[in-house]
Amino acid sequence: MSLVLDPKFKSQMDWALRFLTQDQVVALPTETVYGLAGRVFSDLALSRIFSLKARPHFDPLIAHVTGLDMAKELALEFDEVAKELIKNFWPGPLTILCKKSKNVSDLCTGGSDEVAIRQPSHKVFAEILKRLGEPLAAPSANRFKGISPTSYEHVLEELGPFGLPAVVDGGPCVHGVESTVVRVRSSQKLIEILRPGACQVEELRNFSNKLGFEIREAISVLDSKTKHHAPGQLAKHYSPSKPVVFFEFPWESFTFKSIQENDLSLFVTADDYKLSADKGFSGKEVVVLGKTKTQSAANLFSELRKFDQNKKYSRLIAFGTSTEGLGLAINDRLKRAAGSEIHPS
Ligand code: TXA
Ligand code: MG
Repeated sequence: MSLVLDPKFKSQMDWALRFLTQDQVVALPTETVYGLAGRVFSDLALSRIFSLKARPHFDPLIAHVTGLDMAKELALEFDEVAKELIKNFWPGPLTILCKKSKNVSDLCTGGSDEVAIRQPSHKVFAEILKRLGEPLAAPSANRFKGISPTSYEHVLEELGPFGLPAVVDGGPCVHGVESTVVRVRSSQKLIEILRPGACQVEELRNFSNKLGFEIREAISVLDSKTKHHAPGQLAKHYSPSKPVVFFEFPWESFTFKSIQENDLSLFVTADDYKLSADKGFSGKEVVVLGKTKTQSAANLFSELRKFDQNKKYSRLIAFGTSTEGLGLAINDRLKRAAGSEIHPS
């Protein structure tokens, strides 16, 4: 049985800290999704993270810190642009890749010479880090390739049966999609986006324009053959166990005969759903994630989970949204849920 800890009580936060100092893992809320936390400086804790998630060792973990000072323990150096990013976007959903220092084991980075670092803004995670005084590795608290958890109940569903010691209940996550992962290439005046996420590309572009830097998506596919040479992502990820089909906005390749009995159709925003009227959707099984993209992102993973658990549905038809704002991250997650079933391919 996993303990569910209430952060309002100091004694329960003490429990979480005790687990962590004893090289155990604890699931903690962040502003993006729940993370499965363990000490970066403990190989025992890191290996417990990998085994509880059934995650392969080539897929590296993000280190969470209280700010630049703690980040300096992990990185060989910080270039000036990375420091500016930190000033502008931390604490918050931006993860920065840096050359790792010798303090960081290969277990954390999947053998890469870069370490991914972020400062979460969630007050529960921030308090734990402050009291612990050292960085915590934390991947999303789901089984490998599964749907990321945005509530403590989701964490229990994912990891409870596999021996999770404890989860701190910090309520639902505000963003609902993971952090944006970037790498700075100062010599090329370039910021690469390896994973679109809750920190929006437009905000990053405003920032980089001021510095005369270009921003470019470098979203790559990670598989067991390429290992960390193509870091960032797996093609099939964030997946329900049932099939998902994705149609790129504005869904030109969609025809109504693609819909079968027991399909659920998913639209990202209310405006997208209005457009679907032309396609003859009235009376069909439909879920709309939210009024705005912010709301839709917050509901995305819980709706994927509900679809997966509802026996009524055998397949999800996911209609992508426009790429502005959080649309980029939402489409990315829906495409990874679909794997190779993406139209046009
Ligand atoms: O919002 C988030 O980032 C959440 C919360 C818990 O902080 N964490 C999260 O971790 O999403 P995870 O492990 O589920 O995803 C981390 C992503 C992976 O795609 C991984 O490949 C990439 O970051 N990553 C981590 N370290 C890396 C490295 N050294 N080089 C390249 N990619 C890296
Ligand atoms: Mg994950």
